[in-house]
Amino acid sequence: MQIDHRSFTPSDVGDDELRGWFEAVGLGFGQGRAQDEAFTRWRADIVRDGWRLDGAYAASPAFGLGADVPVGTFATTTQTINTGAGHLEPACFITDVTVRTTHRRRGLLTRLMGDALRRARDEDLSLAALTVTEGGIYGRFGFGVATTCTRAELDTGPRFQLTRDIEPRVELATPAASVAARREVFDTFHATHRGSHQRLAFYDPYLSGEWDFDKNGPNHDVRSAVHLGADGRPDGAVSYLFEENGSQLRVLDLLAANAEAELGLWQFLGAIDLVEKVVVRRLPPTTALPWALADPHRLKVTGSGDYTWLRVLDVPRALGVRAFESDGEVSFTVDDAQGLASGSYRLVVRDGRAEVAPASGAHLRLDVRALGSLYLGLVDAHVLAAAGQVTGPASEVDALSALFRTALPPVNASGF
Ligand SMILES: CC(C)(COP(=O)(O)OP(=O)(O)OC[C@H]1O[C@@H](n2cnc3c(N)ncnc32)[C@H](O)[C@@H]1OP(=O)(O)O)[C@@H](O)C(=O)NCCC(=O)NCCS
Repeated sequence: MQIDHRSFTPSDVGDDELRGWFEAVGLGFGQGRAQDEAFTRWRADIVRDGWRLDGAYAASPAFGLGADVPVGTFATTTQTINTGAGHLEPACFITDVTVRTTHRRRGLLTRLMGDALRRARDEDLSLAALTVTEGGIYGRFGFGVATTCTRAELDTGPRFQLTRDIEPRVELATPAASVAARREVFDTFHATHRGSHQRLAFYDPYLSGEWDFDKNGPNHDVRSAVHLGADGRPDGAVSYLFEENGSQLRVLDLLAANAEAELGLWQFLGAIDLVEKVVVRRLPPTTALPWALADPHRLKVTGSGDYTWLRVLDVPRALGVRAFESDGEVSFTVDDAQGLASGSYRLVVRDGRAEVAPASGAHLRLDVRALGSLYLGLVDAHVLAAAGQVTGPASEVDALSALFRTALPPVNASGF
C-alpha cells in the first residue's frame, strides 16, 4: 500500500486540498458530504485556532473520492491547559482522527499519532490532550483519562427548590451579546480552574445558535442567558433549548466562574414556567447543585465518564509547571512504549513547586498513562496501583499519592 503522508496548515494549500481533508473527516464520523457554507466556516475556524492538518493519501481509482481526499486525517493545535495556581501551559490538542474503513488496521493511526507526538515534543510542548469516541484506542499511545464529567437530569417541577437565597441576577441575551459574555466568563473560568482546557473557535457560533455543524446551518432553537456578578460583569452564561413540546429543557452549556453564578443560573432554569425537566450533559465534578437542593433526589445522575485524556511528553517540564498542594519527594521510572517520556526521575516539591532531576535506582514504576491521570489530580496513586498502572513498594506509592493529591478534582468545560 503506497501512502503519501502530508502535513500542512490552511495557508500552505489550496481550497481543493483543504476541502478534500474536510470531506474525509465528515466521512470518518458518519456525516454527509461537505456543504459550501460549512466548509467556509470550518476553514475560518481552523485558521483562527491555528490548526495543523496531517493527511495520509492513497492512489484513488477513477470512480473514487479523488486524490485530494485523504484516507487518514489527524489535526493538532497548540492551546492551553490550566495546570494549577493559574498557570496556563501550552499543550498539543488533537482532534479529527479518522482512518477510512478501507484502510483501517494497517498502522495509519499509529503513524499519524507518532508523527504528531514527536513533533509536539520537538516544539517543547510538555503535554498532549484529546477527547475520545471510543475508550480502547488511545491508552496504547500513552494517554490517560484526566478529567471527567457527569450527565444528569433535574426535576424542575413543583418540588424543585434551592436551600439558600440567591440574588436573581440573570438576563436573557441576544446571540451576539451571549458570545461576548461567554468569552469573558470563559477567560475567568480558564484562569481559575485546574484542568480547564482552552475553548476553540466553534464554541461561539454553536452556543449562540449562529451555526451548528451537526445541522449544517443555524440553530434557531438556542436561547442564551447571562449571570451578572455584583460588579455587573458577566460571571456565568447558559445556552439551552426546549424539547418535548416545551416541557423539557436541554442545557448545551452552563459555564460559571464561581458557585454563586452557577446556582444563580440553575435557579433561573428551574424557574422557567412549563418546564418539568432540565437535561444536562456536562455537570462539573465540583458542582454545588446537589448540595444546594432542598431535595437532592430531584437531581438524577444518568451517566458519567471521561472528558479529556492527557499524555505527558516531557516529564521535567510538565511537572515543573504543575502546582502541587503538598511538599515531599519521590523517585520513579516512567515506562513509555513510544519512548517520549521514558526515564527515571527524582521529583522534589518545595512550597508547591517541583524540581525534577534524573534518578537512579527508583523502585516505583509508572506507565506514562498513569502520569496523565495523576497530573491534574483526577485519581489517587493508590487506585492506579490497584489497577496495575503503578507498581512499587507501598511506602513509595504512599509518597506518590500524597504528592499528587489535590483538594478538588480537575474541572474542564471544553471538548474538541
Ligand atoms: C480509530 C481509528 C482511527 C483507528 O485507525 P487505524 O489506522 O485502523 O489504527 P492502527 O492500524 O494504527 O491501529 C493501532 C492499534 O490500535 C488498535 N485499534 C485501532 N482502533 C481501535 C479501536 N477502535 N478500539 C480498540 N483498538 C483499536 C489496533 O488494533 C492496533 O492495535 P495493535 O497495535 O495492537 O495492532 C479508525 O478505526 C477510525 O477512523 N475510526 C472511526 C473514527 C474514530 O472513531 N476516530 C476516533 C476519534 S476519537
